Amino acid sequence: MSDDRFSTTPDRPTIRAAVQLACRAPSVHNTQPWRWVLEDTRLHLFRDTDRQLGATDPHGRQAVISCGAALHHLRTAFASHCWNTDVARLPDLSRPDLLATVEFRRWQEPPSTVFRHAEAIEYRYTDRLPMASPSGWTSIRLELEKLVRAHELTLDVLDEDARTRLSVASEQSAALRRYDMEYQSEIRWWSGHSGMLEGVPTSALVSESEAGRVGVARDFPTPEPMARRGDLRDHARLAVLTATGETPLTWLRTGEALSAALLECTACGLSTCALTHITELTSGRRLLSSLIGHPGVPQVVLRLGLAPDNHRPPLTPRRPLADVLTLA
Ligand SMILES: Cc1cc2nc3c(=O)[nH]c(=O)nc-3n(C[C@H](O)[C@H](O)[C@H](O)COP(=O)(O)O)c2cc1C
Repeated sequence: MSDDRFSTTPDRPTIRAAVQLACRAPSVHNTQPWRWVLEDTRLHLFRDTDRQLGATDPHGRQAVISCGAALHHLRTAFASHCWNTDVARLPDLSRPDLLATVEFRRWQEPPSTVFRHAEAIEYRYTDRLPMASPSGWTSIRLELEKLVRAHELTLDVLDEDARTRLSVASEQSAALRRYDMEYQSEIRWWSGHSGMLEGVPTSALVSESEAGRVGVARDFPTPEPMARRGDLRDHARLAVLTATGETPLTWLRTGEALSAALLECTACGLSTCALTHITELTSGRRLLSSLIGHPGVPQVVLRLGLAPDNHRPPLTPRRPLADVLTLA
């Protein structure tokens, strides 16, 4: 057995295991728009522009947010193997697809949060059903605000009366997209199928009546009628992640903050759902800016709550590691 106390790179099985875990990150429509390349002692993260959603995400903002979430998942996974990571974000301006380069240092005693979050990666999922109000919210909220601030973002929890306004914004976003053929064919391509290694499977979607009890949700193709969680109406907390600007760097950081928030909620027993259909539209962003009442660019809305019945759909699939990781 090799003595890796002085090594500056984790061994190959550790790299494979950490990248595999990183790829459990959430991504817009489960497009998994990332590629990892190990070169000597450095691991590079590239965005895969072939997987960008031309109609939904024309500037690649959500693709980069997804990669940022994968980057935070990766760092969490390595930390749980006692490897500290140093990250250069967008290290080469002549290669805009290169989002990050990661280098490694041994870490004797990572904080316990790392292990809780690494474990949470394995069972985090997007919950589109109505949720009950979260318990222990006051302390969770403080922790979320702190975690998100570390990534240079803010997390604002909205008042209960914002729910109606966001439901209206959701309806408006669906109405504006109803006759957008490119958007519609994209969402139909990427969701509502089974047996694929990408996209949002039917098992993760909600019926029309279930969606009606949530209100703040993207319009996906609906599966057959179902009434899970009885007649529960959504009482999830609504929160907004706001970045300092609108650049690839702030998008990457948004993804990192998103991952930190989702993993903390998951570790605390909450269900989560990231939403971007409102921030895709200028009117939606304006509404969110007025609700949070401070400068910045609202990027992602979060629903955070309790799944009362513990109903969890099967985890969504991911592409095989060989498709996304190159060991040069
Ligand atoms: C940038 C981004 C945007 C997303 N937007 C939405 C959305 O608008 N509505 C939604 O229901 N889920 C949204 N999601 C969740 C993804 O659909 C989900 O992460 C993906 O299908 C993988 O499923 P999982 O999170 O259960 O692993 C988004 C995720 C990310 C990272």
